Amino acid sequence: MFKHILITGGAGFVGSNLAVRLKQTFADLKVTALDNLKRRGSELALARLREHGVEFAHGDVRCAEDFDTVSGYDLLIDCSAEPSVQAGASGSPAYVLNTNLSGTIQCLEAARREHAAFLFLSTSRVYPISTLNAASFTETETRFTWSDPTGAEGITTNGVSEKASLEGARSFYGASKLAGELLLSEYVATHGMKAIINRCGILAGPWQMGKVDQGVVTLWVARHIFKKPLSYTGFGGTGKQLRDMLHVEDLFDLVCKQMAKPELWDGRVYNAGGGLANSVSLCELTKLCQTATGNTIEIGAKPETSPVDLRIYVTDSSRVSKDFGWKPQRSVPDLVEDITRWVHEHADSLAKVLG
Ligand SMILES: NC(=O)c1ccc[n+]([C@@H]2O[C@H](COP(=O)([O-])OP(=O)(O)OC[C@H]3O[C@@H](n4cnc5c(N)ncnc54)[C@H](O)[C@@H]3O)[C@@H](O)[C@H]2O)c1
Repeated sequence: MFKHILITGGAGFVGSNLAVRLKQTFADLKVTALDNLKRRGSELALARLREHGVEFAHGDVRCAEDFDTVSGYDLLIDCSAEPSVQAGASGSPAYVLNTNLSGTIQCLEAARREHAAFLFLSTSRVYPISTLNAASFTETETRFTWSDPTGAEGITTNGVSEKASLEGARSFYGASKLAGELLLSEYVATHGMKAIINRCGILAGPWQMGKVDQGVVTLWVARHIFKKPLSYTGFGGTGKQLRDMLHVEDLFDLVCKQMAKPELWDGRVYNAGGGLANSVSLCELTKLCQTATGNTIEIGAKPETSPVDLRIYVTDSSRVSKDFGWKPQRSVPDLVEDITRWVHEHADSLAKVLG
């Protein structure tokens, strides 16, 4: 069992939730969160981290010296990132590349110096956009769904498995994360680093500071609560794009199961997501938000599709389920209810960030 975990991006959505839940679950564990507080709203996590006994180091993963204030950790969980697929889609990709690639290199170097294991929060966005959007699909009244055979290896109605092709462009975000994965595999091979890579689909839950380009479930719930307009953007503007959602509590359960099996930390790659059973389209999400919040808001339509948008993404998590006996336990309605409760409880501070 690990004794001290450093979580980079530890004031962000995933990082702060993992930090708090790890402290709550393992009383003797030391947890340090390092973050540059770049994401608007991450500053709101600081009081919660303190309250739960998580130490905080203000630092930037792009800067090697910022790791000097923390030592003695035996696991580094890399959650520091510019997590938007839109980053660099117009204008310079410098921040996404410098944080997600150069920053990951600094994280890897810090872990190597400490002889620490490495858990990398990668993304489904490593899979190429053109392959995913070319897979055969059907259109129902409320959603797009893949139809078998999809014509693409590793992609079925049950989702994308690790067998799917990595050939083709995938956005600066996806490319920077895939490059991080490749470098991590070199640290495993050359330095015997213990590592696991989780390629996550959409993660959601309380403490996600959702915005238009990232964090869709929080964005949708918050706009319903604060009665602000939304739009269905892309693929004709009908809101039928489909995604699977993984509750951050289910991710935490997976991380615990992975920590309990050190023999599997050989750099292997897993697709981890909510799966077809926990998939939802935007217009279906609207209905869930109306039920949870009691509000109905205006939703516009912007038919034009961004070059980095996907019609459908569903995760096939069979491999990670088999290796760790893990299955998501929380449904999409549970997720929407949890986020609704959280926004109501913190409405004053969140109105400034999410409103
Ligand atoms: N949220 C999702 O749906 C999702 C899906 C798949 C993978 N991921 C991955 O999970 C990880 C966490 O994402 P998240 O949703 O918590 O995002 P987030 O934006 O909420 O958290 C990222 C944190 O990193 C910090 N950060 C940004 N640049 C930094 C830098 N240069 N130095 C130090 N800290 C920096 C931000 O301030 C923020 O607190 C990321 O690696 C992301 O790629 C997220």
